Amino acid sequence: MTTNTAGGDAVNVAPEPMEGHGAYDRNSRVQGSSLSSILPLLEQAAEVVPVDFAAPLVVADYGCAGGRNSLEPMRVAVRALRHRAGAGRPICVVHNDLPANDFAALFDLLANDPGSYLHGDPHVYPSAVGRSFFQSVVPPDSVTLGWTAWSVQWLSRMPMTIPDQVQVAFSRDAAARAAYARQAAQDWAAFLSARDGEMRAGGRLVVLAMASADIGGFGYRISVESIYGALQDLCANGFLDATEVERMAIPTYGRTRAEFLAPFEASGRFGNLILETIELFTDHDRIWAESGEGRDASLFATRWAKFSRASVFPTLASALREPADAVRRGAFFDRMEAAMTRRLAASPERSLIPLAKLIVSKVPA
Ligand SMILES: C[S@@+](CC[C@H](N)C(=O)[O-])C[C@H]1O[C@@H](n2cnc3c(N)ncnc32)[C@H](O)[C@@H]1O
Repeated sequence: MTTNTAGGDAVNVAPEPMEGHGAYDRNSRVQGSSLSSILPLLEQAAEVVPVDFAAPLVVADYGCAGGRNSLEPMRVAVRALRHRAGAGRPICVVHNDLPANDFAALFDLLANDPGSYLHGDPHVYPSAVGRSFFQSVVPPDSVTLGWTAWSVQWLSRMPMTIPDQVQVAFSRDAAARAAYARQAAQDWAAFLSARDGEMRAGGRLVVLAMASADIGGFGYRISVESIYGALQDLCANGFLDATEVERMAIPTYGRTRAEFLAPFEASGRFGNLILETIELFTDHDRIWAESGEGRDASLFATRWAKFSRASVFPTLASALREPADAVRRGAFFDRMEAAMTRRLAASPERSLIPLAKLIVSKVPA
């Protein structure tokens, strides 16, 4: 937990990694199902990056979490690079996430999952770097191919408390909306700048991220409302106090197309980076489909509550009153999941899932 201060508000929430021990992997099928719409871009990028130099090829995976949703993209990247670079060429795959991420679960998966990209290729070397991707995570000029999925919507910090919501996209507070927009702009520039430093000339970065749609904005209305409602429930029954709830927010931000483009606007370049393609699209709500369009309200509610638990409850829990021991933290997760499930089951609704896919390249030498 870190403490930031902005606009006079003490803010005790910073992004925390996803729920560990495989929980995120088991409850991130929404994220996993969007891969099919971006893997062709990754393959396309792997086919044009330079491979004719005498050093191992480096593929970086920014924001890997437990790793399950990285297996397929890394398999696609390794296969395409292997085809071009020859059988014995070393390929290093660097998985990056926050220091407290469950990297042990990732390495277990890489070693034992039948879908691991390691199987059948003895010249692929996986490693992990636990460091924020808002700074460099690998040496300068080393990355040939970068990949990041569902991660750059996470901000580096929570710029201020949100007085009327847990997710700024649904807030009516102008100051909070402005502070989050500013932070998102700074963070996108910092992310790109760090990649500019560590990509090789001619390298490419493929990005899939939550976005804000022209119509419908951030999306996930029912889940966000249920999280906010569940926090009020836990406050009403005395488990949380009002100060804890005030501090809780989800520091994610769905950028608009214009916000993704902004760093490139002045000159068509950002440092040595060029935006090759950008597309905003809406993914289908897999949970809505699997629950028979909400007819199985229990399945609908359980899946979305577990999705939220695995991805955002760890960050919310970082605002619990100190010392938040493991027992209270565990109880917070369980009570939030139960309250959220009750609320979701009462009014199933299809979620809008706006995403952006981009390819960014570093100018050739
Ligand atoms: C929703 S998960 C995405 C995981 C996976 N890429 C996928 O597609 O399912 C977002 C990941 O980004 C990580 N993350 C958030 N902020 C980060 C930062 N500043 N540096 C590195 N990783 C970060 C989180 O810890 C989390 O594991």
